Amino acid sequence: MANALVTGGAGYIGSHTCLELLQAGHSVTVLDNLCNSSQESLKRVQSLAGRALDLVQGDIRDFDLLRRLLDSRGSKQPAFDAVVHFAGLKAVGESVAQPLAYFDNNVLGTVCLLRAMAEAAVKILVFSSSATVYGDPASVPISEEFPRSATNPYGASKLMIEDMLEDLYRSDPTWRIGRLRYFNPVGAHASGLIGEDPQGAPNNLMPYVSQVAIGQRECLQVFGGDYPTPDGTGVRDYIHVVDLAKGHLAALRSLSQAEAGTGQLLTVNLGTGVGVSVLQLVKAFEQACGRVIPYRVVARRPGDVAACYANPHLAKTLLGWQAQRSLADMCADAWRWQVQNPQGYRLVSTPAPSTGATQ
Ligand code: NAD
Ligand code: UFG
Repeated sequence: MANALVTGGAGYIGSHTCLELLQAGHSVTVLDNLCNSSQESLKRVQSLAGRALDLVQGDIRDFDLLRRLLDSRGSKQPAFDAVVHFAGLKAVGESVAQPLAYFDNNVLGTVCLLRAMAEAAVKILVFSSSATVYGDPASVPISEEFPRSATNPYGASKLMIEDMLEDLYRSDPTWRIGRLRYFNPVGAHASGLIGEDPQGAPNNLMPYVSQVAIGQRECLQVFGGDYPTPDGTGVRDYIHVVDLAKGHLAALRSLSQAEAGTGQLLTVNLGTGVGVSVLQLVKAFEQACGRVIPYRVVARRPGDVAACYANPHLAKTLLGWQAQRSLADMCADAWRWQVQNPQGYRLVSTPAPSTGATQ
């Protein structure tokens, strides 16, 4: 059983991963500044798991805090076996408007975390990278060795961190690092208790569709009907967030099993390998919710690529992991979350399960 520090664990993917970690018997401490999340997600994670985790409310750029957290307090055992690093800002458009905020938070925050980990000799890290590092791919499906490029500061921050991790590994090959390139995470836990909680109008397709379905928004704008894809709309690789969370456990398992003293730099796509168009997703969602989703096709969104889906085979070979849940599952679970939580985590009061220390 591992003792994991999860940065950004209160967020969308982090909360689902914390639940999987707790259910697998691991101990979890979350470090999150709650800039894009709330404690409510973690209360629910604990209810679902029937076990407590610790929440430390703080920033990954606070080196003294990280030092204290990672300090083993004189024991020979490090305070944590591994760090799962989700904390970061993720809105592409915002990153274009505020590039320095993105480099500061994502890149400098990761430098700070890595320095504290190195000092405490905690050298197992799983990092949230993104399919955005493939830029506009020359072909699909996309394999890990495809060339990388950035089309916006958010993507640039992921590229920089990937490169930093590679340099760190080269300088000290006892590190065990997983760079997980997520495709398009969607859906929610099947309980309907945890899910994606966007602030304001959603940027991403699935939460937007879901808000149209429930009547909070009038009509979906389909960005572009003239792409060179089967129905002219953009094609993506949607992956259920629970499958994605399980991918982190598989990566942790693989990194932890490496022979003592040996390191590993693992870079894998986490996707399904199935390309789904905007209109296909709308149809699947209509079936899940039993309602018509009004939409109109408008101009392309600047910066969007026509098609982006993974070759997922390396993750299967190296981690023994592959996505299990279908597009119908993703839509059904997203819909259940939407119906049960029309305002996300806001304006709710659920009984607080027993919590760990909160700083
Ligand atoms: P999210 O915003 O729901 O979660 C990120 C969490 O990090 C939030 O709880 C936020 O409060 C916290 N955080 C941000 N900056 C912090 C800081 N400086 N210190 C401490 N906590 C901080 O996002 P998510 O969708 O769960 O994404 C998690 C990670 O996965 C991010 O790094 C994101 O870039 C990456 N990713 C997400 C997607 C996606 O579509 N959701 C796709 C590819 C990669
Ligand atoms: N789309 C619409 N209408 C909307 C929203 C999206 O038609 O209101 C379309 C987009 O044009 C695209 C598809 O739906 O064809 C998916 O768009 P998303 O915004 O849901 O996802 P993206 O693939 O554009 O972006 C996601 C993450 C980024 C990440 C990227 C690559 O949001 O952070 O995947 O991993 F960089």
